[in-house]
Amino acid sequence: VRLVVLVSGSGTNLQALLDAAADDAFGASVVAVGADRTGIEGLARAERAGVPTFVESVGDHPTRDEWDERLAGRVAEHKPDLVVSAGFMKILGPHMLSAFPVVNTHPALLPAFPGAHAVRDALAYGVRVTGCTVHLVDAGVDTGPVIAQEAVPVREGDDEESLHERIKTVERRLLVETVGRMAREGWTLTGRTVRLGTGRV
Ligand code: GRF
Repeated sequence: VRLVVLVSGSGTNLQALLDAAADDAFGASVVAVGADRTGIEGLARAERAGVPTFVESVGDHPTRDEWDERLAGRVAEHKPDLVVSAGFMKILGPHMLSAFPVVNTHPALLPAFPGAHAVRDALAYGVRVTGCTVHLVDAGVDTGPVIAQEAVPVREGDDEESLHERIKTVERRLLVETVGRMAREGWTLTGRTVRLGTGRV
């Protein structure tokens, strides 16, 4: 199964997928890594792993829709079975979403705390338990069907960094587990329910 991974930052979730894909038993390989900006560690991780990379910045396009269309074309060049958004900080548009199934990882228990500041928002709210969510991407912001979730405790004295790091430790494992199962066992979507183990990728 061919994965294209989209990143915008450090790429530790990407690294977890690259490490898992080194074992054929994982059932999927990362065939390319795309980003919305240059100079990020996520691209360096791909290069170190010998994986092709590409960058499509929103600012290089006259409209958001043309960026979405161009990004879809760049992704399509690699013929992915599944696109994984792992710390990609842009909302994907109709060209991307009509062309590929996209999985995203989010550092909160959706529908709580959607958006780009989930960890900060959870901490500010004062929750005692937060977590991470792996979900299919739809046209909304972190609103797609949930595939997997895992709770992560908030500890006394946590700041955004310590809490996000604790979440990311769980998130990287959950993403590898979930993407691996989708690749090996297939999956289907019925309404908002994603079922794994149904033979379709
Ligand atoms: C992850 O927690 C992801 O859920 C969020 O940003 C973080 C990206 O981390 N959107 P990394 O780039 O994978 O290290």
